[in-house]
Amino acid sequence: MQSTPIKKVLSNEPLSQEVIVNGWVKSFRNDRFIQINDGSTLQNLQCVIEADGLGPNVLKQITVGAALKITGTLVESQGHGQRVEVQVRDIFVHGLADSEEVKLTVLSPKRHSLEFLRSQAHLRVRTNTFGAVMRVRSALSFAIHDYFNKNGFYYFHAPIITGSDAEGAGEMFRITTLDPKQPPLTENGEVDYKQDFFGKETNLTVSGQLEAEAYAMGLGKVYTFGPTFRAENSNTSRHLAEFWMIEPEMAFYDLADNMDLAEDFIKSVLSYVLEHCREDLEFLQKRLLDEEKTKPQAERSDMALIDKLRFVVDNSFKRVTYTEAIDILRNSKPNKKKKFKYPINEWGADLQSEHERYLVEKHFKCPVILFDYPAKIKAFYMRLNEDGKTVRAMDILFPGIGEIVGGSQREERLDVLRQKMDALEIPEEELWWYLDLRKFGTAVHSGFGLGFERLVLFATGMGNIRDVIPFPRTPQNAEF
Ligand code: 4AD
Ligand code: MG
Repeated sequence: MQSTPIKKVLSNEPLSQEVIVNGWVKSFRNDRFIQINDGSTLQNLQCVIEADGLGPNVLKQITVGAALKITGTLVESQGHGQRVEVQVRDIFVHGLADSEEVKLTVLSPKRHSLEFLRSQAHLRVRTNTFGAVMRVRSALSFAIHDYFNKNGFYYFHAPIITGSDAEGAGEMFRITTLDPKQPPLTENGEVDYKQDFFGKETNLTVSGQLEAEAYAMGLGKVYTFGPTFRAENSNTSRHLAEFWMIEPEMAFYDLADNMDLAEDFIKSVLSYVLEHCREDLEFLQKRLLDEEKTKPQAERSDMALIDKLRFVVDNSFKRVTYTEAIDILRNSKPNKKKKFKYPINEWGADLQSEHERYLVEKHFKCPVILFDYPAKIKAFYMRLNEDGKTVRAMDILFPGIGEIVGGSQREERLDVLRQKMDALEIPEEELWWYLDLRKFGTAVHSGFGLGFERLVLFATGMGNIRDVIPFPRTPQNAEF
């Protein structure tokens, strides 16, 4: 007989039938009551050993962290705290867990700090918090594919190794097979990348956008959902060196269509988790409330997690131009009282996260889409507006997160794009194929990138991006 996931046992409650479950021991008390969890749900299953049902040899192998297979009968529970429980008939021990050693790990049943949990990222998924976060993460991924599939998009796989810098920010990880101690040199004494594996300089991709544009100009609507890499030395709770990005790209979409899609998409995937991850969200909501109790009133959120998600799903995002935003910021209290680390004095200033958070959390109190940014502070591929100084860019800003989406209408005019690349000294040889897209049937097109971990942060109410990805990669850290 096959084992049954605990989630299924608890939802079907096949009373008085025999069940077999596999899982890890969460607690064991009075030599009788085992709480077992298999990851299928937040809930543990209580399994009760009848007095002298199993020998002392088996009993001493049942310790927190051990992996067991339990066979027994599902009955109505005699005790409080659960409706059903298993009367144990037989236990097979898959794997032991030494009690003394378990005490030193995150498996020991007590509260652990998130920092300590990070140091044992291989075991933390067995805790309630990380089980819940990772189930929500998985549900969100599914909802994302489901959304695009239902809306006529094709899933497109962008290359991970590229020869171009899509964002033009130069924050890339180099890929090479050359010997770092003795690389071949050119006549001028520079490293000769012609002799490298690909015969040129290559790096891990920072974004699949440029390749997605090529595919949108043939398949119409495409999206990527894959890992991207940034060698920016940002040690913040919002940055990872390796993160997952969702990048839809649509032919014949202008900036307004792009904003409509992004808003509808985010609302749809958040609705999905509200509907399908109720139990985990309730647990995470309580975790957040407990955590916030230790903080000063001013730092606590005014809405509980589930209300916050509902609020985003039910209300329109506020759309504001960069120019309007600068006016609001310039006249804001913190700016006048010199409370911003980077004061806003003039049009053209890049917005820092303190400004984004002021707009979203204090001024508008809802998600905000900022658009029509100064060309100078945005990437080369964004479409120039008729004013000659702003581009059709949009960023979506979320409460507690800051920027969650960055996107734009792309420059589809060959001559304008060439001028832009020229001005920024981006060599045409590198992006000849990107220019080709403007030569052969160019068209208005747009797209955006959503940082997946920032979305998971928002959906779970966690505070640090390192706690919503299984094995985080950050400056000075690539353990596991
Ligand atoms: O704003 P970004 O840099 O935009 C692009 O890469 C465009 N090529 C996207 C497109 O138009 N197809 O990044 C997009 C999003 C950000 O809004 C943020 O959510 C996330 O990616 N992001 C990061 N997330 C975690 N760690 C980092 N270091 C991130 N950098 C960007
Ligand atoms: Mg951005």
